[in-house]
Order: sequence, then structure tokens, then C-alpha cells
Amino acid sequence: MKAKIIGTGYELPAFEADNQYLSTLVETSDEWIRERTGIGKRRLAREETTTSLAAGAAKKALARAGVRAEEIDLLIVATITSDTNTPSTACRVQAELGAVHAVAFDINAACSGFLYAIHIADAFIRSGIYRHALLIGAETLSKLVDWTDRGTCVLFGDGAGAAVLTASEEGGVIAQSVGSNGEKWEVLSCLGRPVQNPVCQSQAEPGYLKMNGQEVFKFAIRTVPLCIEQALLKAELPAEEITWFLLHQANKRIIQSVAKRLKQPEEKFPMNIETCANTSAASLPILLAQMEEQGRLKAKDKVVLSGFGAGLTWGACVLEW
Ligand code: COA
Repeated sequence: MKAKIIGTGYELPAFEADNQYLSTLVETSDEWIRERTGIGKRRLAREETTTSLAAGAAKKALARAGVRAEEIDLLIVATITSDTNTPSTACRVQAELGAVHAVAFDINAACSGFLYAIHIADAFIRSGIYRHALLIGAETLSKLVDWTDRGTCVLFGDGAGAAVLTASEEGGVIAQSVGSNGEKWEVLSCLGRPVQNPVCQSQAEPGYLKMNGQEVFKFAIRTVPLCIEQALLKAELPAEEITWFLLHQANKRIIQSVAKRLKQPEEKFPMNIETCANTSAASLPILLAQMEEQGRLKAKDKVVLSGFGAGLTWGACVLEW
């Protein structure tokens, strides 16, 4: 049995902040942001929370899959912006959906989170332990961003995407290549609450997202093509046979560079970065759900999902739609 995606959904906050709006907050311009990243606007949460966005995306994915919440065995939320340190966002989504039979937990693999979630679900489904999995990538990254740092605040947006996977004899996940390198954690990080207890009163402030943009850029253009090639090798498929390469939406130039390295036409690399910016773990499932909504994914299409993020983490997954 293979793990096959049978329904997707996404949810975005109502408020749209374009580059012009950001130029009223920090010294930047629409021209700079578009040229360096491909981003034109992003959604920012007002009333929405990571939980409400996740639940909204999940309800749409369940409806599209024709699966009832009670049928879900495994519910994973990939997020670095849970509304509560505990319980997990997954447990709160479980309650909202009534997914009473699911084992529910969060994972933290930053922008690679959705790929890590597929990695886990695939193992459980393949081994016959679970039949239906609901995977969600959900973020309100706007609460971790330093809104005075123009080097990072222009890059991110909020949102959630979800996918229902089921055990299937046909189609589904063919091969994956997933990795981590903790030695490079400082390249992209956000510190948590400092220790303040009866025996230690740390003076450290709770952290904002900090990034060495050029290091991340170099890491991405080197690692993403490599892990896609490794996954394709395992799948015994040449790049030419892939219909779509859905990449983490962090920077248009990174995606273009990967296309070039793989010697594949850019048209095979759909993007929503112009309207959604980088939504971290939500980025891939939002793009996937938009592709499904637009009817661009056809049965038997070979699809590659790939991304990278803080950790450092990365991954690629080859699947048949
Ligand atoms: N608006 C205007 N100018 C800005 C700016 C902004 N929002 N952000 C930075 N600048 C300035 C810098 O201060 C610098 O000015 P200086 O030359 O006077 O010092 C100049 O633009 C160039 O900065 P630099 O950081 O070298 O730009 P860059 O070409 O590397 O682009 C990123 C910056 C962040 C867009 C790019 O490095 C990137 O996308 N990296 C990957 C980030 C990523 O994907 N993160 C998420 C991983 S999941």
C-alpha cells in the first residue's frame, strides 16, 4: 500500500498587505522586494490564528477527499507558530474537527515541515498501521517576525494548507529524500522564551526571527536540486517525466535557479509567491491545494514536492497524483 493524497484545502487570512503597505513600516520598496524575491503581497492574520487557519484548511481537504473527520487515524500539524506551547495545534484542530479517533501531534521542521509530515505519514500508511492521515502546514509567522527588520519582514506571510492521505494500491508517494543539518542552526533561527525560574533569571529577550539571507540562499540553491535528484533516482524516474515541480515558495530566484540546475522548463514550476509570500510549513500544501482547485493536477501526473528551511532541514518527495 502507498500513501496517496486524495484531497487538499487551504485557508488564508483576510487582510492583504502589499509591498506598498510594508514600505510605510520599513525603508523598502515594491521594486526591491519584487526584484529580489518575486513577492508582491502577503496575507497577515488579524482575528485568524494558527489553529483557525489549520482547521479551515483541514475542513476543505476532508470535504474534497470525501473522508469524515472520525475516519482520520493520524493528524499532524507542521508549524513553528503554535498558538499554545501546549497543547499542540494538532490537538486543538482535532477538537474543532471532531477527529476523535486520530492520534494528533505537531512537528517542527520549519519550512520543510509538510515534507517531514509526509515522510512520517508514508511510513505509517505503508506499514499498515494507519489508513487515513490528515497533514496540515499552518503558520502565523507574522508573530515571530521583527517588523523593524526590512531584511526579513518583507519575506513572510500567514496561511494554512492541508492534505488527506489514504492507503492506496495505485498512485501515491513513490520515493523521498529528506535531511537535516543541525550544525547550521544559527543561519535561520528564532529563540524561545528565556529561562526565568527561581534559580535563574536570564536577561535574554524572547527572540524574533533572525536570518543570514545569503547563507540561506546558497544552501537552498545547492541542496534543493541535490535532494530532488536523489528522490528521482530512488523513484527511477528522469526529471523529464515529472509533470510538476512544486517547490517551497521562499524566493522566485531560488526556484528559477533550481529549474535551471535540473534543466527543466520554468513552466513546470508553478508559483504563488507573488500573492502569498513565504508561509513556511504552509507554503507547499497551499500551492498544492491551489493547483488542485484550478484543476491543474491530473490522475497519473508525476509530481515532485520539495523544500528547505530552518534547522537546517530539507526534503523532496516524488509522487503520482
Ligand atoms: N528593502 C530594501 N533594501 C533592502 C531590503 C529591503 N526589504 N532588505 C535588505 N536590503 C538592502 C540591504 O540592507 C543591502 O543594502 P547595502 O548593500 O546598502 O548593505 C542590500 O539591500 C542587499 O542586501 P542583501 O542581503 O545582500 O540582498 P540579497 O540580494 O541577498 O537579497 C534576500 C536578500 C533576503 C531577499 C535573499 O538573500 C534571500 O532571499 N535569501 C533566502 C532567504 C530565504 O529564503 N529565507 C527563508 C528560508 S525558508
